[in-house]
Formats: sequence, C-alpha cells, structure tokens
Amino acid sequence: MDIQSLLDFSRRETVRDPYRAYAYLREHDPVYWCSHFHAWFLTRYSDVFAAQADTQRYSSNRMQQLVDAQVPPEKRAQLATFVKLASEWMYSQDGRTHKDSRHLLGKAFTPRTIESLRQTIEAITDAELSALEPQTDLMANLFNRVPALILAHLYGIPREDALKLRRWTDCILIFLVGSLDPDVGPAQALKGVEEMYAYFADVIEQRRRQPEDDLVSRVLEASVESDSSTDQVLAQIVFILVAGYTTSADQLCIGLLHLLEHPDQFEALRADPNLVKPAIEEMLRFDSAGSFSHRVLNDDVSIHGVTMKQGDLVYLMRASANRDPAKFPDPDRFDIRREHNDHLAFGRGEHFCMGTALFRLEAEVVFTLLFQRFPELSLIADKTAIWRDNNLQFRGLKSLPIDLGKGAAQ
Ligand code: HEM
Repeated sequence: MDIQSLLDFSRRETVRDPYRAYAYLREHDPVYWCSHFHAWFLTRYSDVFAAQADTQRYSSNRMQQLVDAQVPPEKRAQLATFVKLASEWMYSQDGRTHKDSRHLLGKAFTPRTIESLRQTIEAITDAELSALEPQTDLMANLFNRVPALILAHLYGIPREDALKLRRWTDCILIFLVGSLDPDVGPAQALKGVEEMYAYFADVIEQRRRQPEDDLVSRVLEASVESDSSTDQVLAQIVFILVAGYTTSADQLCIGLLHLLEHPDQFEALRADPNLVKPAIEEMLRFDSAGSFSHRVLNDDVSIHGVTMKQGDLVYLMRASANRDPAKFPDPDRFDIRREHNDHLAFGRGEHFCMGTALFRLEAEVVFTLLFQRFPELSLIADKTAIWRDNNLQFRGLKSLPIDLGKGAAQ
C-alpha cells in the first residue's frame, strides 16, 4: 500500500486497523500533521508520556478546537451550547478548576468505594450470564449491558434508562473526533448533550429532595462542602457516563476477541485463572478502546525538529505509544504474561482516568465468571466479529458472535 493511503485517516480501512499507520509514523514522522483532523499526532511513547505530564504547555481546554476541526465556520455557532457544556467537564479543564471538579467526584471513586461494588458486579454479571442463549452476540447481550447496569446501580437510575444511555454517549464521543457516520454529526451530538443534561438535572433534583445511598447523592453532599454549583455537579455527573460507558463496554469486547484470536493465550488463562489481571492489562495495552486524547498548545512546542504552534490541536496517540518497540519488547505480540506492562490506556498525571479501578474490577469479575461458566466458549467460524469503523478514537465492535459451548442452556 502506498504511504498516502496508509496515512489516510478518513479511510474506513485505516480506522479499522490503524496500527500499521502508527508504526510508520513512530518510525518516520513522530510529529505528524494530520490534515484530516487538523491536528498533530504524537505517536512515540516518550512523547505522549511527556506531553500528558506537561499541563503547562498542553491544555485540556479543547472543546472549541475539536468542534472547529470538525465543523465549517458557518455552522459553528449552532454548537455554542455544546462547547459551553462540554468545556465544563473535568476532562476539558485545567489547573485549579480541574482539581476542584476531581475533588467533587473523589468520594465516589475511592478504591474502597469501588471494591465495595464487587458483590453487586458479580450479581449483575451472573444474572446476565444466566440469560444468554447458547450462540449469542456477546457485544449486545453481555458487554454492552454489564457496564450500563453497574452505572444504573451507581446512579440509582432504572436499568432500562441506563441501557439507553449509549445512544447519547456514542453521539457525543463519535462526533467529537471526526465521525465517518452520516447518522452521527453535530446535530446528534448537540441533541445527545441536551437530552442527557435534562435527564440528569431531574435526577439531581430528586436526590436533592431525597438523598439516597448513591453516587449522585454523594457528589451533591461533596458539592455542599465545597460550595460548588448545581451546574458543576451536573457537568461532572454527565461526564462520568460519557467517559465510562462506551469505553468500558468496548474494551471488554475487544479484549475477549483478542484473547480468542490467540488460543494459546486463552488456554494459559484457563489453566491459571490468576492470570486474569495481567491479561486485562495486556488487553488494554494491545488495543485500547479510548485510543487517544487531545490537547491544545498554550505555547509553541518543538519536538524532533518540528515546531507546533500555540493554539494547535495535538493528539496524544496512546494506542500507538502502547505498541512502541522502544518501550515494549515485541509490541505487536499479545502476551498475557507480559511484565512491566506500563501502558498508557488510562492516561497519566492530572487527567488520569478516574474510572480505572472500576473498569479493572468490572473486567476481572466479568472474565472470571464468563470463563468459569463457559470454559469452552469460542468464536463462530462462519459468523465473524464486526468492527465499528465510524471514528478513529473510540475503538469497538458492533458484534461478537460467540458459541458458549458446554455450560450453555440448551
Ligand atoms: C476501558 C475503559 C476506560 C478507558 C480506556 C478510559 C480511558 C481514559 C483516558 C485515556 C482518560 C484521560 C483523558 C485525557 O487525559 O484527556 C480518561 C479520563 C477519565 N475517565 Fe476513563 N477510561 C475508561 C473507563 C472509565 C470509567 C468506567 C469511568 C467512570 C465510571 C471513567 C471516568 C473517567 C473520568 C472521570 C476521566 C476524566 C479525568 C480527568 O479529566 O481528570 N473512565 N479515561
């Protein structure tokens, strides 16, 4: 394939499998201007690592630039509300304001609070496993459901409402980084944000009147102590769902696919279930659901002889960094026993993912129970997995048909 096609990030083939393009860029063009995204791509581990630590020069206040990169000037005004609301998410904040927003959620995301969810996550997963048909699409019938049901429990909202959240979170996420899907554009992203805010404004109001033992009530309690406004609470409450649902569901599904595509690795895990934790880390390194992050430069920055200008958008390509041979020996090998797996799937530093412990616990429970109950599950030869190829940042599968084998209800 010629280089131009390889690096054409508007091609669905490149989106579906960008790893060859990343390998080329890491070696030949580590500070690459991508005209499709109107953004610089940093692809080496050391550069991504350094950029995310450098919050002085790399700002997270990125929503306006992301929208400008997707939408022509004459249509930008209609997204003013989107930009305003999304700029209040902690994800888009810097410095003191960012710290305050993280603090607001701190109580709800302590390791102890998360660990206390183990039994609930087990019960949710167990019930979902019991309902599976012997041959089933595990994306639709397991991986897309468990994270939503956990979030329903955390937020104290009805299960059926939680299962519908993805129509909002997907519209927002996929639009933000250059949707290739004609059904997901600025109008859908705006509608998604507005509907989500209306729904959760209502939940907040209910919890204010009658506090419960849930995340929203805990955040509200913290907001009284820190004198934060309802808008600040709403912004972070909505953002957790945007950050946590699509990514978790997709990462579980991607992880299982890679495991089954590497039968020796699956066999090793079945023989030694204690490998489940390193296996999850390898799934995150090998193919991260949230494959990059964005920053805006506060200053001119020069790397490897290339100068990026103040105001430019920069993409920190985590998925590429995680396959950098300078950091990971034999990086294209899926190896659940890999040591020193210091991957960047959850980011680092001030914006380090707040859902890391929750995802790790969720994945540990789901894979442990899944393999205990269906030790012989396998891909189905004539029904292949279908990847989603409508955006570069959020990787995931549309469907993963699986034969559950022994243990499945007949
Ligand atoms: C496999 C699943 C997940 C992946 C790969 C992932 C990845 C990431 C990454 C890379 C960031 C940093 C973004 C940046 O630096 O710009 C981030 C931030 C964040 N994530 Fe996750 N995430 C996952 C699941 C979750 C879950 C389950 C939650 C919560 C329920 C969550 C909540 C957050 C929050 C609140 C932030 C913002 C932190 C900040 O800006 O200070 N994430 N995530």
